[in-house]
Amino acid sequence: MKYDFTSIMDRHGKDAIAVDGLGTAPGFAPDAPKEGFDAIPMWVADMNFPTVPTIPEAIIERAKHPAYGYFAPTDEYFNSIIQWHEKRNGATGLTKECIGYENGVLGGVVSALDAFSAPGDAVLLHSPTYIGFTMCVGNNGRKIVHSPLKKDAEGVWRMDYEDMDKKIKENKIHVAIFCNPHNPCGRVWEKWEIEKAMEVYKNNHCLVISDEIWSDIILNGHKHTPVQSVSEDARNRTIAVYAPSKTFNLAGLVGSYHIIYNEYLRDRVAAQSSKPHYNDMNVLSMHALIGAYKPEGYEWVDELCEVLSGNINYACDYIAAHFQGVTFSKPQGTYMMFLDCTEWCEKHGKTIDELEKLGWSVGVAWQDGRMFHGPCAIRLNLALPLSRVKEAMSRLDKYVFNA
Ligand SMILES: Cc1ncc(COP(=O)(O)O)c(C=O)c1O
Repeated sequence: MKYDFTSIMDRHGKDAIAVDGLGTAPGFAPDAPKEGFDAIPMWVADMNFPTVPTIPEAIIERAKHPAYGYFAPTDEYFNSIIQWHEKRNGATGLTKECIGYENGVLGGVVSALDAFSAPGDAVLLHSPTYIGFTMCVGNNGRKIVHSPLKKDAEGVWRMDYEDMDKKIKENKIHVAIFCNPHNPCGRVWEKWEIEKAMEVYKNNHCLVISDEIWSDIILNGHKHTPVQSVSEDARNRTIAVYAPSKTFNLAGLVGSYHIIYNEYLRDRVAAQSSKPHYNDMNVLSMHALIGAYKPEGYEWVDELCEVLSGNINYACDYIAAHFQGVTFSKPQGTYMMFLDCTEWCEKHGKTIDELEKLGWSVGVAWQDGRMFHGPCAIRLNLALPLSRVKEAMSRLDKYVFNA
């Protein structure tokens, strides 16, 4: 490997909720570990790897020039995004005009919701559901209608197209949020699945907000299909939101973007995005994106996906072999696992709260899955050096599941 995915980074005091947030927000953050155990951060969706060096280099280079006044995003910024999507996602016809800035991906989701729905309107989402959607849809006065994903005979999460159609009709829904790849289920939707979903949306005149923040983190040879690529109708029906933040660990820098090919949709979203006057790029985050989307960034992400595939394979094999009563669907993308602990809890007479606390006490800072609509589930972040993943599995074995 050319890049470093094995060193254990000390993030304490370096602006990281993942480590410094432990024990600070009961009900949301894991407890801090008891004495004798260090914390292994496996909750907040960021990574414990140093990012590609071209990012700090680009930021530092720009910061050396001692003026940070008003500015406009450069052609280099737009071209970096265009090339990234052409090379990695096979995008065609993507121009600067189709790209719009958003502070965050969730901010982009809200801009699109504001443009095409009103408070009180229902919005379709799949469940399990990423907590950020639950919060931003609810906080903006929209009503979430869930269409549950279902595991097939092989344990793969699938959409229920009939249920989607029924819920859309029953609730007169005209906006859906689609998560591609899916957090927390880790599905990298196949082309035919997206095509079928888009048929349902099309037949019901439903606009689609496709959150593709995880689209670069694809594991074990799976392939990301952008929603906008599946048909001309999908290209015109969809507002896609992306960011380098999940891919390169840049959430703290802030900076996302949407891609909207249809001019009408684009104008309506841009009108909403511009209303809060603070929805604007930070000069250093612009340079971070340019640094990320350099040739080294392409190599780095390929290596990252290889490392994460190894971590996921290790954890899946370990859990399947050692933690009886814990079930999961192997993630195809993202670095998150969603563990269903129902059977284990029933067999051992423990509640999910008790189980979570057992993990936290020995430093496995995993996350309550209830906020993602898994009633007895835990979400586990595997973006750490493999040695830490192994340590976490061994502690869970010795002190939690087989104690
Ligand atoms: C599916 C999904 N969308 C959006 C976000 C958050 O994006 P942002 O911080 O850019 O709003 C996350 C973070 O975990 C996510 O998993």
